[in-house]
Amino acid sequence: MADTLCFFAKDSLLIKSPKKNPLVLRMVVLIFATICGIYICSICLRQVGGRSAGRLLSVQVIEKPCEVTNIEPSEKPYVHFPKPKTFSRNECACNPVRYFAILSTQRSGSGWFETLLNSHMNISSNGEIFSVKARRSNVSTIVETLDKIYNLDWFTSASKNECTAAVGLKWMLNQGLMQHHEEIVEYFKTKGVSAIFLFRKNLLRRMISILANSYDQNAKPLNGTHKSHVHSSHEAEVLARYKPTINTTQLIPNLKQVDDLVTKSMEYFKSTRHIILYYEDIIKNRTKLEDVQDFLRVPQRDLNSRQVKIHKGSLSSQVENWEDIKKTLKGTHFESYLDEDYTLGHLPVEILAEVVGRCIV
Ligand SMILES: *[C@@H]1O[C@H](CO)[C@@H](O)[C@H](O)[C@H]1NC(C)=O
Ligand SMILES: *[C@@H]1O[C@H](CO)[C@@H](O)[C@H](O)[C@H]1NC(C)=O
Ligand SMILES: *[C@@H]1O[C@H](CO)[C@@H](O)[C@H](O)[C@H]1NC(C)=O
Ligand SMILES: *[C@@H]1O[C@H](CO)[C@@H](O)[C@H](O)[C@H]1NC(C)=O
Ligand SMILES: *[C@@H]1O[C@H](CO)[C@@H](O)[C@H](O)[C@H]1NC(C)=O
Repeated sequence: MADTLCFFAKDSLLIKSPKKNPLVLRMVVLIFATICGIYICSICLRQVGGRSAGRLLSVQVIEKPCEVTNIEPSEKPYVHFPKPKTFSRNECACNPVRYFAILSTQRSGSGWFETLLNSHMNISSNGEIFSVKARRSNVSTIVETLDKIYNLDWFTSASKNECTAAVGLKWMLNQGLMQHHEEIVEYFKTKGVSAIFLFRKNLLRRMISILANSYDQNAKPLNGTHKSHVHSSHEAEVLARYKPTINTTQLIPNLKQVDDLVTKSMEYFKSTRHIILYYEDIIKNRTKLEDVQDFLRVPQRDLNSRQVKIHKGSLSSQVENWEDIKKTLKGTHFESYLDEDYTLGHLPVEILAEVVGRCIV
């Protein structure tokens, strides 16, 4: 618009010029042309300047991308550099972060396992986040919650913030995980989330733990408070005094149900990068914790927990109707649960002291 106006004026003046005072007219034309030229140039400059400033801004937004060196191509999908909305990762902005989820069932040692993980300065395992029903009401709320956790924007006592190298949660199979397994497997694959399966080999012991825990929930023998996990041998002793009676009609169907659930979950999530752990193995063999740290690619540390095991010693002393239970399970697929599969007596002293010693003495 400015250009056409300018040229039009210049042309009309040029055409008329020979008839009037030529010198004055030429001067006028020259000055006019100069002004026009300056005007056009200034517009051009402003546009060019604007464009380059915009380019500079966009460069600042993208920033220098973080890079990982010494990494195998197959590992790339599992390495992330989250940019939390709620804080800055500061000096650890370019420390790679791995995403994980502990997939487990209630009373399988996952609480204890999680405290072990959280004793590592670079691991944040944020607890049973999906125990809150609203967060698992549909796939969108699940994804929204996971996104927030993995972007390091979820705050719990476990959050290590800036220098977290592995972030995750504890997720029970009955907390929407099986129900929405297809979408969750897809999420795990696209986001590069690794799964840590944590189960208990002896499902009979697990059942006793559940019964005792639900008794405790109702009776609250610890001065009116319910505790699923305890921190002193005295507390453990009080809780272990209760001996449940197991309904033997229900026993085999119940064990089978849990066994099937566990098998199915491993089937569903087998295409996800994963590690399978058993509570009993971690108690017996501390190198399992090195395997986990290796799996999460965090520096090796000694992991420790203040939690004390509630039930100890022989199974037969933990239930009222041991003879009935024995009769029911003899000759079935579940017979091995009757074995004292981890008598703790033969463990090295330092492990006893560290893991369960305080309640064995
Ligand atoms: C998912 O659940 C949330 C909260 O319960 C609700 O607000 C939202 O509309 C639901 N979304 C879909 C797609 O069903
Ligand atoms: C672990 O945390 C420490 C201290 O917060 C930090 O200096 C270190 O870089 C972190 N390590 C990894 C692998 O992120
Ligand atoms: C209950 O509280 C009393 C006094 O506070 C304490 O002495 C006792 O050991 C507690 N009992 C249990 C089971 O923790
Ligand atoms: C055991 O469970 C069965 C089936 O649910 C029930 O009929 C029976 O009364 C229960 N037995 C006891 C002792 O609670
Ligand atoms: C302990 O675990 C490691 C690695 O998982 C394994 O190689 C080793 O054989 C185990 N040791 C025992 C005594 O089971």
